[in-house]
Amino acid sequence: MKVLITREIPQAGINLLTEHKNLELDYRKGAPLSPAELKKAIKDADAIIPVIPDQINKSVFEVAKNLKVVATYSVGYDNIDLDEATKKNIYVANTPGDLTEAVAEHALSMMLGLGRRLAEADKFCRDGKYKYWDPMTFIGPKFMGKTLGIIGFGRIGQFFSRMAKHGLNMKILYYDIAPHPEAENLLDAEKVSLDYLLQNSDVISLHVNLSEETKHMIDSAQFELMKPGAILINTARGPVIDENALALALKENYIAGAALDVFEEEPKIHPDLLKLNNVLLTPHIASATWEARIQMARMAAENVIDVLINKNPPKYLVNKELLKDSVSSIA
Ligand code: DGY
Repeated sequence: MKVLITREIPQAGINLLTEHKNLELDYRKGAPLSPAELKKAIKDADAIIPVIPDQINKSVFEVAKNLKVVATYSVGYDNIDLDEATKKNIYVANTPGDLTEAVAEHALSMMLGLGRRLAEADKFCRDGKYKYWDPMTFIGPKFMGKTLGIIGFGRIGQFFSRMAKHGLNMKILYYDIAPHPEAENLLDAEKVSLDYLLQNSDVISLHVNLSEETKHMIDSAQFELMKPGAILINTARGPVIDENALALALKENYIAGAALDVFEEEPKIHPDLLKLNNVLLTPHIASATWEARIQMARMAAENVIDVLINKNPPKYLVNKELLKDSVSSIA
């Protein structure tokens, strides 16, 4: 049975797969596959371990005649046509786990790094501009005791709140369609409307999935509600923010800054954002801790083994609707 792995991933996952002699790995370590190369490679694959930029859409599912599981090397799966997979009885599985902590730690780093202007200060030193100590340069806000507004209070949003609450005594507001009473109690967090959160937070951090509902959830109307000193952090998905509106809001000082790990048209970055000093940019690396990436490789491999070897649904199944007829679908 053939397993297509579209990019190099930590060896721990590959080792799990190679323990099974009847799995033949088509392991691509180079540049990302083009859509045409992906379609060619997936034709006879029984399983695929794709990464975020691989678009596993309807036309890909159409040629993938043997496919039984898409075991994405990510927690997000907006690059996979879930409805099409479910219609075709193909499991989609993801990699929740240590990634939660990694992404939350990155959001915290971005908050502190942007506020204390670390990237600008680093460049200043490297450019040989540090000639004397200056009481008036690189001044930023204090975060201790300020208000953190979390949009999407799932695992990652809650973990970031935990660090902000216990480390910096921040007040936590959250906006989510579902209530989270247990986390509310633990973190003394308050569930509020989106408008209230935008009007009252010093730091706003996005932790929602990308969907029709969340696309451009943060647009010009939302920037107008934010405090002039607010900073916005996005470690979720780029299209949740309208980047044109963000660039304008930053130029017009509607808000004080933005820290972005994800972009609307990744890997392209809006040219205006590249010119602004009050923006901190990282190339979609929020999950990049050794611990998270190694665990993700193991989880993706386990998802494949569950289906192809153990003839079970994958442990980290996303399209749970398939559970009722899972046995017949993989027989
Ligand atoms: C994910 O897992 O969805 C991240 O965006 C990449 O690790």
